[in-house]
Amino acid sequence: MRCLGLLLVLSPLFFAVSDGDGDHGALVKLKAALVGPGGSGLGDWAAASPDHCSFSGVTCDEDSHVVALNVSFVHLNGSLPPEIGLLRHLVNLTVSCAGLGGSLPVELAALPSLRLLNISNNNFSGEFPKVEPGGFPALEVIDAYNNNISGPLPLGLAAAPLLRYLHLGGNFFSGVIPEAYSDIPNLEYLGLNGNSLTGRVPPSLSRLSKLKEMYIGHFNVYEGGIPREFGRLSSLVRLDMAGCGLSGTLPASLGQLKRLDSLFLHINRLSGSIPPELGGLSQLEFLDFSINELTGEIPESFAELKELKLLNLFMNHLQGIVPPFIGELPSLVKLELWENNFSSELPESLGMNGRLVTLDVASNRITGTIPPDLCAGGRLERLVLMDNGLVGPIPEKLGGCKSLTRVRLGKNSLNGSIPAGLFDLPSNDMLELNDNNLSSELPTVIAGDKLRMLILSNNSITGSIPPAISNLPALERLELNMNRRSVVSRHCP
Ligand SMILES: *[C@@H]1O[C@H](CO)[C@@H](O)[C@H](O)[C@H]1NC(C)=O
Ligand SMILES: *[C@@H]1O[C@H](CO)[C@@H](O)[C@H](O)[C@H]1NC(C)=O
Ligand SMILES: *[C@@H]1O[C@H](CO)[C@@H](O)[C@H](O)[C@H]1NC(C)=O
Ligand SMILES: *[C@@H]1O[C@H](CO)[C@@H](O)[C@H](O)[C@H]1NC(C)=O
Ligand SMILES: *[C@@H]1O[C@H](CO)[C@@H](O)[C@H](O)[C@H]1NC(C)=O
Ligand SMILES: *[C@@H]1O[C@H](CO)[C@@H](O)[C@H](O)[C@H]1NC(C)=O
Ligand SMILES: *[C@@H]1O[C@H](CO)[C@@H](O)[C@H](O)[C@H]1NC(C)=O
Ligand SMILES: *[C@@H]1O[C@H](CO)[C@@H](O)[C@H](O)[C@H]1NC(C)=O
Ligand SMILES: *[C@@H]1O[C@H](CO)[C@@H](O)[C@H](O)[C@H]1NC(C)=O
Ligand SMILES: *[C@@H]1O[C@H](CO)[C@@H](O)[C@H](O)[C@H]1NC(C)=O
Repeated sequence: MRCLGLLLVLSPLFFAVSDGDGDHGALVKLKAALVGPGGSGLGDWAAASPDHCSFSGVTCDEDSHVVALNVSFVHLNGSLPPEIGLLRHLVNLTVSCAGLGGSLPVELAALPSLRLLNISNNNFSGEFPKVEPGGFPALEVIDAYNNNISGPLPLGLAAAPLLRYLHLGGNFFSGVIPEAYSDIPNLEYLGLNGNSLTGRVPPSLSRLSKLKEMYIGHFNVYEGGIPREFGRLSSLVRLDMAGCGLSGTLPASLGQLKRLDSLFLHINRLSGSIPPELGGLSQLEFLDFSINELTGEIPESFAELKELKLLNLFMNHLQGIVPPFIGELPSLVKLELWENNFSSELPESLGMNGRLVTLDVASNRITGTIPPDLCAGGRLERLVLMDNGLVGPIPEKLGGCKSLTRVRLGKNSLNGSIPAGLFDLPSNDMLELNDNNLSSELPTVIAGDKLRMLILSNNSITGSIPPAISNLPALERLELNMNRRSVVSRHCP
């Protein structure tokens, strides 16, 4: 009896071992659906070929069960059929960038070992299948980014007990973020960006104590503002709530996010002043509050943001000084403060950190002279200081700044001569110095294969136009009118 029992148990396995309990047949059925009408691909997935474990993209365990399937970057343009549910041992399913469409089969949720599901960058559409209780029992990672899935965010996914990575961004999901998403115990990554979500951002999301990355902005249009409770997300490294209609003020509690390296809140309707508490974000590298309605000054506490690489505050209603400590930030790469109401001088030490690549403070009320060491690191590319009250000369050192790609210093009160080197920069696209009181003659060497715009009108430039100008290969716009002797004009022969 015992022997018989053993035999009975073993026999189905024994007979099926060569095709992994029917996985061979399942793959052949899958292929028929994955490869769309008129399409090609999966050429070696042949019914006649007995060893399905050698099919491209297929990984088997020692019993010839398919444990991983990766058909990314193969142009298939079919759909993912219910037969996927036959691959009972599947652990990893990656069908990213494969041109697949149609709706997702509900059978995915019943796969008992499925840990990773990557269906990103396809054309899957319709609603996300309803996940019954007990669905996706082993799922840890789902990446459905950039598809055409619509309807409400799937509630059932929140009950997948092992889920840690949930990316549903770049789809057409609508409605609110379900409260249930606040109770996914192991969630580390939440991507809901680029959908059509509405309603309030649930304060309860602050219960996601392991959350490291949260991307919920872009195209979504929420009501209300940033929940104060988000200050409790103590594991958070990245917060992106840009471009999603947020109003209200910046919660001071965000300053408690000690691990945060990126805070993206640009393109919203945030108002009020910047809370000094944000100076507590000691790991912060990227701060973007641009295009909001913020008022007040840059807090003195920002002197503590020693890791800051990007500080974008453009298009707000900020005022006061550009604090001297900005020049001392050791890692600062990009500073954009344009279209605010900043006054006073730029920090003398700006650029001395050797890292500065972009400086744009256009359209403020900045006075004083241009700091001398902006290009100390030889990395400065964009220098935009136009429409301010700057005086004095253009620092001679800028003429040797070969990295420059754009120089816009117009509409100031700069005087003195123009550093000759500025006319001979290898990568510069625009030299705009109009509406100043710059004097001197133009240099004879005017080169630069990239120079597209040379705008020097309304200065006090004297002398004649160097013939070199006519040899600039990329030049599209030349404005030299309204200079001292009017020898120069764009209509010169
Ligand atoms: C599928 O792709 C093939 C080319 O590989 C193309 O000829 C066919 O029209 C496509 N079918 C659909 C439905 O897009
Ligand atoms: C599934 O993917 C994970 C992460 O990419 C990898 O570590 C693991 O080995 C894969 N498992 C199988 C069965 O291929
Ligand atoms: C899937 O296959 C593609 C193309 O061969 C490869 O680039 C990618 O790393 C693979 N992904 C996984 C998770 O194995
Ligand atoms: C989705 O399908 C359209 C045509 O229907 C195609 O142009 C587009 O590239 C596809 N997108 C992806 C991500 O496969
Ligand atoms: C899914 O696949 C895409 C394309 O191969 C890749 O860029 C992305 O990182 C993958 N997602 C996850 C969570 O591994
Ligand atoms: C996906 O959605 C986009 C935008 O609405 C649309 O242009 C495209 O045709 C859709 N693709 C499919 C295959 O439904
Ligand atoms: C700029 O600030 C000054 C006072 O410093 C104020 O008089 C002026 O109205 C402000 N301009 C704007 C556009 O906010
Ligand atoms: C520039 O203007 C200042 C006054 O604003 C004046 O003292 C200085 O001499 C001028 N420099 C030149 C070179 O004209
Ligand atoms: C010429 O530049 C000065 C200094 O910026 C400015 O005040 C003046 O309005 C400009 N003239 C014209 C006609 O634009
Ligand atoms: C421009 O500079 C010249 C001296 O180079 C001076 O005479 C003139 O007053 C200045 N113009 C303005 C508007 O500052």
